[in-house]
Amino acid sequence: MYRTHNCGQLRLEDAGKTVTLCGWAQRIRNLGAMTFIDLRDRYGITQLVFNIDTNAELCGQARKIGREFVIQAIGTVAERSSKNKDLPTGDIEIIVNQLNILNKSEIPPFTIEENTDGGEDLLLKYRYLDIRRKPIINGLLLRNKMSLETRKFLDSEGFMEVETPMLIKSTPEGARDYVVPSRIHAGQFYALPQSPQQYKQLLMVAGIDKYYQIVKCFRDEDLRADRQPEFTQIDCEMSFVEQEDVLKVFEGLAKHLFKTVSGLDIDYNFPRMAWHDAMEQYGSDKPDIRFGMKIHNLTDVVKNHGFKVFDDAEYICGIAVGGCAGYSRKQTDELTEWVKRPQVGAKGLVYIKYNEDGSIKSSVDKFYSQDDLKLIAQTAGAGTGDLVLILCGKKLQTLVAMGTLRLEMANRLNLRDKNIFAPLWVVDFPLFEWDENEQRLSPMHHPFTSPKKEDIPMLDTNPEKVRANAYDLVINGVEVGGGSIRIHDSNLQVKMFNLLGFTSEKAESQFGCLINAFKYGAPPHGGLAFGLDRWAALLNGSDSIKDVIAFPKNNAARDVMIDAPSFISQEQLDELALKINPQQ
Ligand code: AMO
Repeated sequence: MYRTHNCGQLRLEDAGKTVTLCGWAQRIRNLGAMTFIDLRDRYGITQLVFNIDTNAELCGQARKIGREFVIQAIGTVAERSSKNKDLPTGDIEIIVNQLNILNKSEIPPFTIEENTDGGEDLLLKYRYLDIRRKPIINGLLLRNKMSLETRKFLDSEGFMEVETPMLIKSTPEGARDYVVPSRIHAGQFYALPQSPQQYKQLLMVAGIDKYYQIVKCFRDEDLRADRQPEFTQIDCEMSFVEQEDVLKVFEGLAKHLFKTVSGLDIDYNFPRMAWHDAMEQYGSDKPDIRFGMKIHNLTDVVKNHGFKVFDDAEYICGIAVGGCAGYSRKQTDELTEWVKRPQVGAKGLVYIKYNEDGSIKSSVDKFYSQDDLKLIAQTAGAGTGDLVLILCGKKLQTLVAMGTLRLEMANRLNLRDKNIFAPLWVVDFPLFEWDENEQRLSPMHHPFTSPKKEDIPMLDTNPEKVRANAYDLVINGVEVGGGSIRIHDSNLQVKMFNLLGFTSEKAESQFGCLINAFKYGAPPHGGLAFGLDRWAALLNGSDSIKDVIAFPKNNAARDVMIDAPSFISQEQLDELALKINPQQ
């Protein structure tokens, strides 16, 4: 038997017991006659003690142990004289009387402790060492708890987990596909699923009724802190449901996860916000509602005062930043530069300071009287001591830029408390958005999403005004999941493909299977998918989803540990009938 206990298990009640522990030597300290080793495993850290006066040979052996050696220690549990309140095992230590080195270790490339000195690429290259660290283990444990509780909850609701294939035909979800060449069918490719969207709809045609799957999805898109090329969805679909039914079940799942994973009781219905309101008030379809600072339309109030920039603008809006009237010229100049960054894209920034002493100072004093500035304060919801920030330009772009500035100001003011969770449903998304590059309509969610019944007549006349039966779950400004009620009528589905600019032949070649399946009795159905990585990162208090993924890719979509992607041999290329273009 290698061990009797693990390194996180022993407490004061165990004093006097003879135990055997195994683990990694995290820290070795030689203090005069004593040597201490912090022995670590997945469960915790236990202190081992060696005393030169009682066992000089053993102590000598302990002093030869290096960091990350794998050791087995047999000894007696004893109460510690100087207790460590930060460790669950901090009241005890093991007086060791036998020590076995199970394996040596080279000096690790970074410190394997709660806080490390390694940079991101180094940590990723040696991820198997990084995972030994408590914050990473904890992230993986939390993720494990989430998938376990998801399975328990969905099982109790009658959902059935069904696996769908990984080698499929491309499903349009808005990103590029990762493709896999076929050897047997030279020149043909499988695509890795961006999501199991078509399969889960086919499972509804097949009568599965309530499907779910915790499933890997693959998207070749620009990476960000909350995006990985492969990520995991909690993917769900239900038959004979309307939007309300879907939201009810999955609000239930969300509350179950908050409770079981984070110990949080959420005893209210999640607020609902129409997409249109989210854009106008928060400049985002994933508003962070942990704090106010809503956006206000100032167009009518500030236009026609001779300030050309505003007079020429389509839309002008502002936010009131509480308690920031004291911002210096240097700070407002810096903010002005900040909004001009390409990621924000504003041309400039106008500010008004409503000072504590009642005076008002703005960057556009020339054009606005004190009364005008007071009216702006009223419209923007600003009071004494507040700073109003104003942007102008094309409506949607200006709102989005203001939404970005709003989040930045909240970050600067520490308003985004990670221990507070503010979930909401964003509903009533437009069915389409205009794709500037392609100069055509594209689906806001995906082409299988149904329009709202009352908006169907506008499909031919005013398609951009048509709202979808689509919804997103947003928590703290993160899109945690999204879905829709699907089209289940093959004629409407064909019409949708036409509106999206697919010829009948192209629709047939890309979606023929689904269109055909719909001819054989497709039930009304709908569903959604949650991003497990994003949700786990939120509950874990992490800024990046990498923290809750065992082996993530770096920001260049590379697995630096196993070194992928990599070149393949000429033999493999020949077998797949592939030729690499050296020019690219
Ligand atoms: P959607 O494309 O909105 O919907 O994806 C669902 C959720 O998956 C997460 N997500 C990601 N997480 C990490 N990295 C990525 N690259 C990434 N892309 C998406 C997000 C997102 O909300 N088939 C539809 C769902 C449906 O209609 O039922 C779909 O995939 O949290």
